[in-house]
Amino acid sequence: MCGIVGYTGPREAGPILMEGLRRLEYRGYDSAGIALVDDQGDLFVEKRAGKLSNLATAIAERTPHAAVGLAHTRWATHGRPSDVNAHPQVDCTGRITVIHNGIIENFQELRDGLEARGHRLLSETDTEAIAHLIEEAYDGDIAEAARKTLQQLEGAYALAVMHRDENDRLVGARKDVPLVVGLGEGESFLASDVAAILAHTRRVIFLEEGDVADLRPEGVTITDVQGRPVERVPETIEWTVEAAEKGGYDTFMLKEIHEQPLALRQSITGRITRAGRIEVPELEPVWGAVRTATRVELVACGTASYAAMIGAAAIQSVTGLPARVTVGSEFRYDPPPLDEHTLVIAVTQSGETADTIAPTRLARERGCPIIAVTNTVGSAITREADAVLFLQAGPEMAVAASKTFVTQVTTLVILAAGLAKLRGTLSSGDESQLVEALRALPAGAERALELNEHVAAGLARRYVNSRGFMFVGRGPTYPAALEGALKLKEISYVHAEGYPAGELKHGPISLLDAEYPLVAVATRSPTYDKLISNVMEGRARDARVIAVGTEGDDGLGRIADDVCWVPDTHELLSPVLSIIPLQLFAYHVALERGTDVDQPRNLAKSVTVE
Ligand code: G6P
Repeated sequence: MCGIVGYTGPREAGPILMEGLRRLEYRGYDSAGIALVDDQGDLFVEKRAGKLSNLATAIAERTPHAAVGLAHTRWATHGRPSDVNAHPQVDCTGRITVIHNGIIENFQELRDGLEARGHRLLSETDTEAIAHLIEEAYDGDIAEAARKTLQQLEGAYALAVMHRDENDRLVGARKDVPLVVGLGEGESFLASDVAAILAHTRRVIFLEEGDVADLRPEGVTITDVQGRPVERVPETIEWTVEAAEKGGYDTFMLKEIHEQPLALRQSITGRITRAGRIEVPELEPVWGAVRTATRVELVACGTASYAAMIGAAAIQSVTGLPARVTVGSEFRYDPPPLDEHTLVIAVTQSGETADTIAPTRLARERGCPIIAVTNTVGSAITREADAVLFLQAGPEMAVAASKTFVTQVTTLVILAAGLAKLRGTLSSGDESQLVEALRALPAGAERALELNEHVAAGLARRYVNSRGFMFVGRGPTYPAALEGALKLKEISYVHAEGYPAGELKHGPISLLDAEYPLVAVATRSPTYDKLISNVMEGRARDARVIAVGTEGDDGLGRIADDVCWVPDTHELLSPVLSIIPLQLFAYHVALERGTDVDQPRNLAKSVTVE
């Protein structure tokens, strides 16, 4: 996720803003920029792709004296990382600057309209459209112009806006993306998170949905988008800077687990039309190839390979095309038959995994059309692919994937629907069902997160000394079992296996006893009854049973020793919700065992060697 810092007050804004950006570096970024209104009322803007030091070098010795300014670290979602795409974005008159975190869903429509009305847009970003819209709405009051503009935006945003001619004033606004106001003595701050401003003030207001904040040195007024005043009570933050970087959570992983509803919202944003249809415009370069494809091969590693399994099942079920997953390191030396009718889908959070990139390159050499599903704009995999779908999950800092798994599953299910629509195999009834489930998914994830206490205080402590864990599922719940087992292994160093439940009796059942529990992903599915029979076989060997079940399934409560209930959803999307208690379980077992959750031993976030 990008970072925002803003300042208005009696001190030099430049150094305060640059220091704020440094505090936000931990969030990950690919470019940075700053805008200052100097003592003469001139606007100074500088932006640089790459590290913050590039920006610092560019403005060294020539940072103007200024008492108001905005600065930003960008993590690209629209348009590659470059100087011109970095924020702040500026309007045609060179008076209005905007920085933005999030995604504007209707940006294309807005940009087209602006261009038709004679505006010249220089970048590829959604953000630039906002600067030009504010320009059209401006009539001497930047807060009023911002409010008018917000009413035209669809999507998620935290925004900071500044006008050259109102040189003690900043405007901030939020919808679905966090933004915080800092209250100093005769100075005011704006930031995407408190880490950026904690060195200056601990009195803050966390803006709420739809809030527009009007900041001046002497104070802040907050209204809704219609301009009606709203009351927000300032809080005093006790966090250390380190805790603030983690949003008040103890670790990045816990923060990222809790960011999943927002990540899902961002992932789905722009892919469902107002009329409730699924739309994947990113597929345009491969339209022809999708229509003539005869097979689909997915390639991925680790967590991404489990998400890809769900993707393959989704693609197979909605397109009727055979689809399967091969882990990158196997695909590379023993590839399946590949030709121009084999659609290859590479799934990789980082976009840099060598074991995924090499087979993708091989497939490209054999003439296969390639689609990449990644979280990282500008990553290596995007250069190998004909079409790219971004997860839009924001950067993930913890080594163990959480929010990128759920957004991979969601994006792959959306991709499956997009392929099926191109091939004419998705009925409008099925599409509507999927859309309804996708729309409900972020709220479902919020509900599943309420299990945190139950898992921490109950399950993790009760089971931490187990000899190992057998995770089982069937059909769509099997990849969730694999991912649940992987999470536990990765961060707690406890042995865990993921198995298709029907295979238990063919070997692994011999491991089970009172010290070796079964973890059953038993959400609603066509093979639910079969899975329950397999669980009963485990129980008969004294294994304790921890289950993840669908709310309302009373029968499961009678079979399992402990159940984590998650909301019902579309079968293809069920792993998005069922994985949440399993992530929490892995997390709290790891805490009980005292491991380094964010940086587990022997692992790296991105493995760029073979
Ligand atoms: C490494 C990480 C795993 C990750 C895998 C694939 O092994 O430790 O957590 O799942 O790479 O990463 P990718 O970036 O390609 O999704």
